[in-house]
Amino acid sequence: MTQHYIVIGNPIAHSKSPEIHAQFATQSGSDISYRRQYCPDDASSFTAVIEAFFNGGGVGANVTVPFKQIAYDCCAARGGLSEHAKVAGAVNTLSLNKTLIDSGTPIAEAIYGDNTDGQGLVNHITSLDWPLAGARVALIGAGGAARGVILPLLRADISSLTIANRTLSKATDLVKELGTASDTIDQHHIDTCATSELSGQFDIIINATSIGLSGDTLPLADDLQAQYAYDMMYGRTLPFLQHFSKRGAQTSDGYGMLIGQAALSFERWTGHNIDVVKATDALSRR
Ligand code: ATR
Repeated sequence: MTQHYIVIGNPIAHSKSPEIHAQFATQSGSDISYRRQYCPDDASSFTAVIEAFFNGGGVGANVTVPFKQIAYDCCAARGGLSEHAKVAGAVNTLSLNKTLIDSGTPIAEAIYGDNTDGQGLVNHITSLDWPLAGARVALIGAGGAARGVILPLLRADISSLTIANRTLSKATDLVKELGTASDTIDQHHIDTCATSELSGQFDIIINATSIGLSGDTLPLADDLQAQYAYDMMYGRTLPFLQHFSKRGAQTSDGYGMLIGQAALSFERWTGHNIDVVKATDALSRR
């Protein structure tokens, strides 16, 4: 029987998720339908859309801009949140909490939220053979995208994490919030600074700002060096990657992260393991 999935966003027409999940379905021999779902930009519309979807037999949903925080609030009040979602403060993957369903909870009250974005990044970096264990990592940005990757980075045994942001107070506030969201995070091991003050040698530097969309450039110090540079944006020439490439760094955009987070959602919904490298190859040949 066909299993139904959606990705909810606004706008949503550009989303690559249906093609990505169709590729996973081909690879794993699964019978799925996965479609784009537009939703008006307010919490009550979002709630109505996901209730109708799950009540109608839907199995899982991805959540994208601008609904990741709304999805977090919605699941916090219903079927619960994974630790990754709690620390991220955002949800990108919805499913039904089977334990609650089995104990008679109505479907709409059993919607559960997870976040696979950060582990998607870590899995992609690992597949590139960039060494994370013991790495000194600099993360630029203190918005939702940055917050979403912190727990998986810390779990990958990095030796230090420095969070740099244009507005320093947002970085320090973020680190304080992490300490309250999870008791497994030791916030004293995370440094913060203004982006323009970030200096010295890092193993891996990650751009989690939204600057790639604006055409602006980050105010990076002359002595800032990294062996590997990753931009969570994808799909065009990214000045951040050009900057570090000229200084001899290996670089990657965030396309592999996009596939990686999707693969983790698919695996959690269906139980099938996805060969992400093979899926990425097949998608890039289109
Ligand atoms: P997202 O959910 O994509 O993380 P966000 O929460 O709006 O979006 O966060 C955007 C991030 O990009 C912030 O860290 C922001 O820095 P500020 O906190 O100082 O606003 C950063 N950012 C956006 N435009 C920037 C620019 N032109 N220069 C430097 N940082 C920028």
